[in-house]
Amino acid sequence: MTRRTVYIETYGCQMNVSDSELMYGALAREGYDAVDHPIGADVVLVNTCAIRENAEQRVIGRLGELRRDLKVGAVLGVTGCMAQRLGPRLLETDTRVQLVVGPDAYRMLPSLLDGARQGERRVATDFDLEEHYEDVTARRFDGVKAWIPVQRGCDYRCTYCIVPTTRGPERSRRLADVVRETEAVVSQGIHEVILLGQTVNSYHDGTHDFADLLRAVGAVPGLRRLRYTSPHPNDFSDRVIAAMAETPTVCEHVHLPMQSGSTSMLKRMLRRYTREEYLDAVARLRAAIPGLTLTTDIIVGFPGETDAEFEETLSLCREVRFDDAFTFKFSAREGTPATRMPPEWTISPAVMDARYDALVATVRGIARERNLARLGDRLEVLIEKEARKGGELVQGRSRDFKTVLVAGPTSWIGRYLTVELTGTSGATFTGTPVEERRPLPMAG
Ligand code: SAH
Ligand code: SF4
Ligand code: F3S
Repeated sequence: MTRRTVYIETYGCQMNVSDSELMYGALAREGYDAVDHPIGADVVLVNTCAIRENAEQRVIGRLGELRRDLKVGAVLGVTGCMAQRLGPRLLETDTRVQLVVGPDAYRMLPSLLDGARQGERRVATDFDLEEHYEDVTARRFDGVKAWIPVQRGCDYRCTYCIVPTTRGPERSRRLADVVRETEAVVSQGIHEVILLGQTVNSYHDGTHDFADLLRAVGAVPGLRRLRYTSPHPNDFSDRVIAAMAETPTVCEHVHLPMQSGSTSMLKRMLRRYTREEYLDAVARLRAAIPGLTLTTDIIVGFPGETDAEFEETLSLCREVRFDDAFTFKFSAREGTPATRMPPEWTISPAVMDARYDALVATVRGIARERNLARLGDRLEVLIEKEARKGGELVQGRSRDFKTVLVAGPTSWIGRYLTVELTGTSGATFTGTPVEERRPLPMAG
């Protein structure tokens, strides 16, 4: 078999990172070797995100750069959510692009690439509700933690969101398949798993719910840390919370997207919960899991947002006291219900910017206070990688998802250290190891 090389550049969420690992896996068995640079690659794929306008603009700009790096005869393809959303329009706007492949069609990549080498230009964007790529072994690049998709698509229809269009209807993998994949990654020496789904706690495979899944995956021998993202506040049944509390491997952190603190805004967003119901989910989680940290996603400037509604978002942040938050300016996505709201509801850029700045200041201030209160704590930190600053500095995560920088060699990557928190930038920590523990022996 002729060996060829493939480079995949990934944008967007963890689901896309995980899909890129699947694409590398599907292509590896057809004779493609992964390379970490587009120059000289036989195949270049850009795995894209469509969540906000600026995510798409980045990709369009990047495609322009990449075409200059391509060698003669190389195939350029666009995959992921933008591919699904724009389909044939992408072939028209960029003449160098030969393949447009949506998230449920990656199985076809090898044959599509064969066609492209013959000069074909193709779009493959059919949804396939059976597709979980069960027979494909993901090619993982992170040796410390593994993302495992348990659910594809989304059945919520939040009025701002493009994901139901780009990912199709919700479907769950079978519990046994998820457990098998977890056992496989643990046998390769990875002890941390992050279960992925757009509303991951609504997982249901026909027999088992998310509570069953947490208990089953959490009990895989050798697994040390289990996380999941992103849950929907409405799907935190008492069963799920109990499973979380009673499964020692499940980490004490939840990313709980809030979007807005105002019930009337939440209603226009079709989030299907009120401010009070969100607070109730927070209270039940905190009561069940001592030391739980919470992070969130918030959108400002959604159509019709009044000053009073925005104030409610700020006040909910102060009430919950998140450890961190991802903040976004509303971006109108073609075809979503939000684009059909009255034009006079549109928030002006000046108001949008002012609210965004106020929100970031509030969120950062609270995070800083919470982090300062943690100085002196001793935490178990799993070292993940070299710190960006370099210079004999590595960084890791605590179980409750705090980033900690530690002076030490890269040979510490993969180790669990007990670290005392000695300083904080407000967002991340520095720490000193107080006792060193070796990684668990390889299971299996
Ligand atoms: N399925 C996840 C979210 C996926 S998108 C969930 O429901 O939690 C990640 C985040 O992007 C969302 O939580 C939301 O805060 C933000 N987002 C989604 N659509 C957006 C839009 N049109 N404009 C701005 N932010 C958006
Ligand atoms: Fe989008 Fe809402 Fe589905 Fe999340 S739950 S992916 S925000 S539609
Ligand atoms: Fe982006 Fe698609 Fe994820 S739109 S956020 S890559 S599901």
